[in-house]
Amino acid sequence: PLVTTREMFKKAAEGKYAIGAFNVNNMEIIQGIVEAAKEEQAPLILQVSAGARKYAKHIYLIKLVEAALEDSGDLPIALHLDHGEDFEICKACIDGGFTSVMIDGSRLPFEENIALTKKVVEYAHERGVVVEAELGKLAGIEDNVKVAEHEAAFTDPDQAAEFVERTGVDSLAVAIGTSHGAYKFKGDPRLDFERLQKIVEKLPKDFPIVLHGASTVLPEFVEMCNKYGGNIPGAKGVPEDMLRKAAELGVRKINIDTDLRLAMTAAIRKHLYEHPDHFDPRQYLKDGRDAIKEMVKHKLRNVLGCAGKA
Ligand code: G3H
Ligand code: 13P
Ligand code: NA
Ligand code: ZN
Repeated sequence: PLVTTREMFKKAAEGKYAIGAFNVNNMEIIQGIVEAAKEEQAPLILQVSAGARKYAKHIYLIKLVEAALEDSGDLPIALHLDHGEDFEICKACIDGGFTSVMIDGSRLPFEENIALTKKVVEYAHERGVVVEAELGKLAGIEDNVKVAEHEAAFTDPDQAAEFVERTGVDSLAVAIGTSHGAYKFKGDPRLDFERLQKIVEKLPKDFPIVLHGASTVLPEFVEMCNKYGGNIPGAKGVPEDMLRKAAELGVRKINIDTDLRLAMTAAIRKHLYEHPDHFDPRQYLKDGRDAIKEMVKHKLRNVLGCAGKA
C-alpha cells in the first residue's frame, strides 16, 4: 500500500538499517525498482524531482506509481517529492497524492530555511503527509580545501537540533561530504562521520537522517558505458562500506539516482552496440530495466540492509 515514511523509519531505527529512496522518471525505471523491492521484500521510497515532473508530467508518474502499488500486494511504498524548492511545488504534490515531500531550503539563510520549512510542515501535517528538510550544502571534502570551508558548508550539529525542534520536520538531510552526480570525489572518498555522529547525538533519539548524493557509481556500469561508446572518465561515488557505516550511525534514507541512470544507460549502450539491427525500443529498454532491477536488488540486500523488512 501507499504509506508515509513514518513506520518504515521507525522500524529502520530499531533494526539500524536504511531505506532506499530511488528517483523515478518513467515506466521502465519504476518497474525495475519495484520488481527488485518485491523480490527482496523491502520497504521502498519512490521519489520524484521537479525535473521528473517536467519530463513525464505529474499525472503520468502518479498513475505509474498507482499501477506499481496495485501490482505489488502488501509492499509498503512511499511517494516522495525530491528537492522541492518552494511551498507551491510541495503543495501541488501534497494535494496531488504524494505521502512525503522534501522542502529544500538549504540555499537560504538559517531563519528563512526555518520559516519556509515550518510553512510546508504545517500544510503537510494537516493532510497526513510527512516532510524532509535540508540543512547544510552538499559538497565533497577536497584535500586542497581548508577545513574552515567544510565547516561552513557542512551541517552544524547544534543548528540541526534547533532546526528540527523549531520546524517540527519529520526527517533531515545533512551535508557531510556527499554530492550529487557521478563525480563525487577527486581524491579518496571521505565523509565526515564525526560530524554525523555529533548530529545524531544532538537530535532527538532515533530521528531519521537522510543522505543525498549517495550513489556508489558502480565501476561495472561506468566501464560498460565507456566500453560501448560512452565517455564518462573519472566517475567516482560513495563506497558501499561508507553507506553501511552511515546506516549504522543513524542514516535512515539513502538517495539514489545516478546509479539508476548509469545502470540503464550502460545496459542500453551495450544492447545497441551488440545488436546494431535492433530498433524496437522494447528490446533495449528491457535490458535497461533488467539492469536497474539487479542493481537495486544488490543495494537492498547488501548495502541498505532493508531486504526482508517489508
Ligand atoms: O538530486 C537530484 C536528483 O538526482 C534528481 O535529478 O533534478 O535531474 O531529476 P533531476
Ligand atoms: P546521486 O546523484 O548520488 O544518485 O544522489 C541522488 C539524490 O540525492 C537525489 O536527491
Ligand atoms: Na528528497
Ligand atoms: Zn538530493
